[in-house]
Amino acid sequence: AGRASASAPSAGTDIRRVGVVGAGLMGSGIAEVCARAGLDVLMCETGPEALKAGRDRISASLERGLRSRKLTAAERDAALGRIRLTTEIAEFADRDLVIEAVAEDEQIKTEVFAALDNVVTRADAILATNTSSIPVTKPAMATRRPQQVIGIHFFNPVPVMPLVEIVPSLLTGDRTRGRAEAFVTATLGKHAIGAQDRAGFVVNSLLVPYLLSAVRMLESGYATAEDIDNGMVLGCAHPMGPLRLADLIGLDTVKAIADSLYEEFKEPLHAPPPLLLRMVDAGLLGRKTGRGFHDHS
Ligand code: CAA
Repeated sequence: AGRASASAPSAGTDIRRVGVVGAGLMGSGIAEVCARAGLDVLMCETGPEALKAGRDRISASLERGLRSRKLTAAERDAALGRIRLTTEIAEFADRDLVIEAVAEDEQIKTEVFAALDNVVTRADAILATNTSSIPVTKPAMATRRPQQVIGIHFFNPVPVMPLVEIVPSLLTGDRTRGRAEAFVTATLGKHAIGAQDRAGFVVNSLLVPYLLSAVRMLESGYATAEDIDNGMVLGCAHPMGPLRLADLIGLDTVKAIADSLYEEFKEPLHAPPPLLLRMVDAGLLGRKTGRGFHDHS
């Protein structure tokens, strides 16, 4: 998991000033691990409420870390003190690295990258996307510096999961790739794996068809949600079953990843099943809204 070196200066690269676009589940987790690694973090959202929700999420997660003795009260305070909030993307001018973690929507991501390209002034700044499934080339082409755009894909919950996927596009420069890898491993203390720039990368290409199969099993009345999840927890030693995991990821995000995979490969196993679509229509998005395949209220 992310190394909690709150008092030590960050190690590994020349990257010190990080910007995070989006303060949702992933953005707030990324901001937290960067702050815990000693970096200066600026987190941007569209409005003050979303920023406050992100900051509350970070505080709650740091409290959890404190309770399980992964960090001290002083380290918690230092980490919180390193995170500044803004609604103005123009404030990202001096950032060495920006990680975009907005909704899994190609148009929104493309707009964010076009804006970042206009405001980030450092000549060697890295512009990264935390996309789970949209090819990195798409946001890269919205900039005038695709050689400096790369996928840096974290896993949820970010402070707990050790993995990061590094996804260069066909245009990403070797230096960008090397610095991104050093940042993830030496600075954040995470494990990096590489993947080529095709929808889903390594993990979601394997995981999402499995999650969708579990939804289809439930939809057809083949087994209950409880039994499907217990099957994989007790039969295969997974930490959580597929429906509970879909609730953790967020059903809107699962649908968005399925859509990207389907668009790329046209495989029926990637098509989101009607039950998933209806749950997203109904706002039953999983843990973040209190109800998904399970009740989280
Ligand atoms: N923030 C910080 N710490 C957290 C946390 C959070 N949100 N959630 C859990 N933790 C910590 C706890 O403090 C606890 O630490 P200690 O063991 O040191 O006390 C540890 O994680 C375990 O937590 P719990 O005991 O509360 O609960 P658990 O044992 O059931 O574990 C879990 C919870 C870590 C989420 C575990 O169930 C798990 O690993 N689930 C699978 C998660 C997974 O597969 N994630 C990948 C999703 S796919 C993705 O993200 C990519 C994508 O693009 C969709």
